[in-house]
Amino acid sequence: MDSATKHDQWIAKVCDQLNKLIQLDFDAAGTYREALLHIDDATVRSDLHDFLGDHERHVIELTRIVRDLGGTPIEAHRDFKGVILESMTRLRSRGTLGALRAMRMNEKLTNRSYDKASDVYMPPLGQVIVMENLGDERRHLAAIEAHIDRLTGKHTFDIDRIDREATERTYLR
Ligand SMILES: [Fe+2]
Ligand SMILES: [Fe+2]
Repeated sequence: MDSATKHDQWIAKVCDQLNKLIQLDFDAAGTYREALLHIDDATVRSDLHDFLGDHERHVIELTRIVRDLGGTPIEAHRDFKGVILESMTRLRSRGTLGALRAMRMNEKLTNRSYDKASDVYMPPLGQVIVMENLGDERRHLAAIEAHIDRLTGKHTFDIDRIDREATERTYLR
């Protein structure tokens, strides 16, 4: 096999991987739209809205990279898996906490997939976008977990308490 063919095969494999991420990010965006319907906490709403925007941006940027690499980007579409993910999110989204727990599960899937993709040997163009998006995915999961901790009272050093103690100290003076 000549090296040109080998290179083409490598690029085809990389584009295939990036196309999978496009569909993954598209599905993730769908679950965020579903979860947002069940959230009444303002800060959670605003965070999840931002994360939805990140996933939509990931789809656009990955599409551009696949094209730049000479591949054919997929037209992300609402497929069977996407429908399942969305209906599971709907079923679990009983109130803000339920929706957050559903999104924690969804983000674990997204994080796992990006983790795997970050191990794939790619041209720098692909590697950079995967690492950047992986950073976003980690941030999404961490923020969702922090919201769950806050709403379930797991947080020992939450801002409210620090504020309260500051007020109490003023009284004691
Ligand atoms: Fe994403
Ligand atoms: Fe995410």
